[in-house]
Amino acid sequence: MAQFYSSIASCGMFVPQRVITNDELSNTLDTNDEWIRTRTGICARHIAGPGDSVASLGTEAARRALPSGDASNVDMIILATTSPDHFMPATATQIQSNLGATCAFAFDVQAVCSGFVYALAIADKFIKTGDASEVLVIGSEIMSRMVDWNDRSTCVLFGDGAGAVLLRRSTSPGILATNLYSDGRGYNMLYSDNSDPTFARGKVMMNGRAVYSMAIDCMESSVRSALTQNNLNVSDIDWFVAHQANKRIIDSVAAHLGLPSEKAVITIDSFANTSAATIPISLSLTNIKRGDLVVLSSMGAGFTWGTAVLRW
Ligand code: UT7
Repeated sequence: MAQFYSSIASCGMFVPQRVITNDELSNTLDTNDEWIRTRTGICARHIAGPGDSVASLGTEAARRALPSGDASNVDMIILATTSPDHFMPATATQIQSNLGATCAFAFDVQAVCSGFVYALAIADKFIKTGDASEVLVIGSEIMSRMVDWNDRSTCVLFGDGAGAVLLRRSTSPGILATNLYSDGRGYNMLYSDNSDPTFARGKVMMNGRAVYSMAIDCMESSVRSALTQNNLNVSDIDWFVAHQANKRIIDSVAAHLGLPSEKAVITIDSFANTSAATIPISLSLTNIKRGDLVVLSSMGAGFTWGTAVLRW
């Protein structure tokens, strides 16, 4: 039987136009640019307007990932999102309709900030079994509708946006390894609190310090394990594209791994934490060359975490 692999053919991103700087936030909150920048690496974030939806951002990112915007050959769409437009149906089906991807089946994946790595791993398995050949993997989020804009400990951290990749069947990898983990003992460390009726989607609550140290440990160990699975070393990595929750977390993981800091992609400065969208946004903004070894890694609420190692 023929051996199938999957590889990223193209990627795209889209963010809403409106930018809010740290200085702007300090007009209404007891915060300042210096605190936000030095503690997180964030300088600004894009925020959705009333006409934006997770589906509209995701659709635009997907269009940009599709060569000539043509979705007629797409047979599967996975949307990673924490902030779906509705509890039902899956926002992915709205994106399918917007794209006219009539040959695809579509569903959402909820693994919060790890959602994109989860969705990529699922897509890879479908392609490897021969059940799909052209898959859109999208991360799209409107986190600004899930934060309490009076809570400086959370609202300054998040932004809105979408990124997408087109994963295609190929004769050589492509994706070399993926691993996924969760530990439900961290369920209450980062969650949306539904007790306040003024927040239709619940509001984000976080034990920042606990999540911070867990993120470093989880990403380091899952990257090491994915590399070992393929007899690869840290020195083989060309690009480390980690979830963008805090620049200090990414710097620490890189330092623990012994990876030169210039190989760690940083986009949090302009976009903040867009949850499941940070990795595909970062992929779209990085000048990755064919043949480069790229490591994607993420950790988020749940706790959930995971890594994908791929040859570009
Ligand atoms: O994407 C999902 C995964 N999420 C993460 O990975 C986030 C992980 N956690 C973090 O990135 C960090 O813990 C934070 C950036 C959230 C917080 O940084 P920290 O260095 O852990 O600060 P802290 O929570 O310990 O707070 C230190 C101080 C506190 O004041 P006191 O008690 O020392 O007087 C906070 O009230 O900083 C204060 N503070 C702020 N000050 C100005 C908290 N938020 C702000 C703010 N502006 N926005």
